[in-house]
Amino acid sequence: MAGLEGVPVADTHLSMVDGQRGHLIYRGQWADKLAHSHSFEEVTHLLWVGRLPEHRESERWCRDWTGKRALPASTVRILDSLGTEQGMMESLRTGVSSLPWEGKTWPPTPEALVGILARVPTLVSHRWHRLQGTDPIPPREDLTHAANYLYMLTGKEPSAAHVQALDAYWVLTAEHGLNASTFAARVVTSTQSDGLSGLVAAIGALKGPLHGGAPSEVEGMLEQIGDSNRAAAWIERRLRRGERLMGFGHRIYRTRDPRAESLRVVAQRLASEEPWFRLALQVEEEALRQLRQWKPHRELHTNVEFYAAVVLKAIGLPRELYTPTFTVARTAGWCAHILEQAENNRIIRPQSRYIGSFPD
Ligand code: ACO
Repeated sequence: MAGLEGVPVADTHLSMVDGQRGHLIYRGQWADKLAHSHSFEEVTHLLWVGRLPEHRESERWCRDWTGKRALPASTVRILDSLGTEQGMMESLRTGVSSLPWEGKTWPPTPEALVGILARVPTLVSHRWHRLQGTDPIPPREDLTHAANYLYMLTGKEPSAAHVQALDAYWVLTAEHGLNASTFAARVVTSTQSDGLSGLVAAIGALKGPLHGGAPSEVEGMLEQIGDSNRAAAWIERRLRRGERLMGFGHRIYRTRDPRAESLRVVAQRLASEEPWFRLALQVEEEALRQLRQWKPHRELHTNVEFYAAVVLKAIGLPRELYTPTFTVARTAGWCAHILEQAENNRIIRPQSRYIGSFPD
């Protein structure tokens, strides 16, 4: 029961995570196939509406997003008032909280949620530029969600290969059952609170190193190892001290995380010639070998975060943007769960078992 392991707490149409077989299905479709055939916008439509959009519908759907990318002046003021000790995820949490919510508080609507989803990349990029001491680059309406994100960060139109890789990463990480952050969003929604509050709770949960904070630590690990000759000793030192290797292990998967597998292919396309890509493969192999030795009682495999780090590095994003970039994707899944929870709502109120003392 600790950590609610194995306890189903909601019925969902949104995704199935089969940890034994390593399968991930979004509304009846293989997530890895979607990642190589559909954009993030289209897959968000699938999650929220229940099917992929028709051609015309897709254009309309994307237009709804592009028109809502700019930040309101009040949000810009709040973001710009934050001190530099407020990192990217803390700023994103504050920024989302400050966004306007269009329409009634309850029940949440897709129209109101699009207004948030469309602005999350702009929040990330605005704050990133401020922390770098550079001027934020306003969003463009003629670019896709992925292309516009990279454009706002760099000021340059990204290559098609980078846009495709980011789209594939976002599709693969948009939704994943009742992970900790999605559960947080559903608990808040179940009280009939507003959608923004659900998203703020989810961001708070995602930022932890055991959840969405792992990919930047994966890059830290690769950097510290630096050379494949040092991998075995570095990994052994960590495991001997009882520490965890970031990018390995999962609550549900007892086999390879299918998202890791797909992202490895994406990374290979972009970076197969890079020495650091070869190092990542060697570190993975050594880590899996030692995890089998140190933890024979637990099936530990590479999880999505290991190759998320590799793909995002291959695209050229700095490490500080890994978890915020994951947040952009997962916002689609959180919103889908907020809508689903509201559709058939009952307050989520589990019990605790009292193990304290009693009055005399
Ligand atoms: N490195 C070393 N040992 C590990 C790891 C790891 N990455 N993951 C689990 N273990 C070990 C634990 O030490 C424990 O060993 P023990 O029985 O000897 O004490 C055993 O495996 C079971 O660990 P739990 O903590 O019970 O596993 P749980 O299902 O609660 O944890 C989690 C899942 C949090 C993801 C864990 O595997 C972990 O901490 N991984 C590293 C962080 C990471 O990569 N997070 C990203 C996950 S994917 C995502 O959130 C998008």
